[in-house]
Amino acid sequence: MSDKYSPTPQDRFSFGIWTVGWAAQDVFGPATRAPMAADRAVRELAAIGAYGVNFHDNDVFAFDESDREQNVAAFRKALDETGLKVTTATTNLFSHPIFKDGGFTHNDRDVRRFALAKVMRNLDLAAELGAKVYVCWGGREGAESGGSKDVQSALARMKEAYDTLGAYVTEQGYDIRFAIEPKPNEPRGNILLPTIGHALAFINELERPDLVGINPEIGHEEMAGLDYAAGIRQALWHGKLYHIDLNGQTGPRYDQDLRFGAGNVGGAFWTVDAVEEGIAKGQYSGPVHFDFKPPRTEDDAGV
Ligand code: GCO
Ligand code: MN
Ligand code: MN
Repeated sequence: MSDKYSPTPQDRFSFGIWTVGWAAQDVFGPATRAPMAADRAVRELAAIGAYGVNFHDNDVFAFDESDREQNVAAFRKALDETGLKVTTATTNLFSHPIFKDGGFTHNDRDVRRFALAKVMRNLDLAAELGAKVYVCWGGREGAESGGSKDVQSALARMKEAYDTLGAYVTEQGYDIRFAIEPKPNEPRGNILLPTIGHALAFINELERPDLVGINPEIGHEEMAGLDYAAGIRQALWHGKLYHIDLNGQTGPRYDQDLRFGAGNVGGAFWTVDAVEEGIAKGQYSGPVHFDFKPPRTEDDAGV
């Protein structure tokens, strides 16, 4: 590869720790790769020219936090030594069984409160590590049956969550904005705020709409049969594109999280055009972020 195509930090490429670190477990079988510690992911990404990373709290330490101190220290050390930036952070509100019916919209008030506390705790770490964007992907905020969650109440609870979090970052003086990541389904049968348009409309109902934008993912919009590039062009027009999750998808089926350019090549071309336009017009200032999961058939060296 000529130098022209070798990534450098100037490209502002960033990656989710959970993507390179994915051990490749799926619904039909266990992991095919060993877990990757967050600090190793940072070092490997830095070695190939990445600019930054995005992390969930539980990409770095366990849910019970027994390894929090040592793992955060190792993560921080790897960041300091490599110069990689934490551009973005997020919260795991979907893996633990307690979140089986969601976090912000769980029907049990205690779980909703716990979810908010978990986000706030990781916002503190995100602020310390310099993240400017905080992603909220509500993968469990939905239902399989029309009767198990009242949509209007759930949206009111979702609003309460964003209003509380907006007040929290304002009080703490954090320079952090939230980015809602829409997805139509998977793991829930139907997920609330399923597309860019739904999320944009929801943001208008918040107490601090300026603090909340969106983080659209290519695969998620294409699962809904939508044109990603057109969607982010509208988000740019609204001044609401705070982050992007680039990957690949082949039409409306399960969430594939393929590498960028796989699947819909034409769509990838127009996505680059839309992002470049946003950058040129000063409408997009986030990283060029990838949410690509290496296939289950890939080994450690291939990742
Ligand atoms: C998915 C999602 C996730 C989120 C991430 C942030 O593939 O359904 O994109 O990868 O982006 O978990 O919370
Ligand atoms: Mn994503
Ligand atoms: Mn996805």
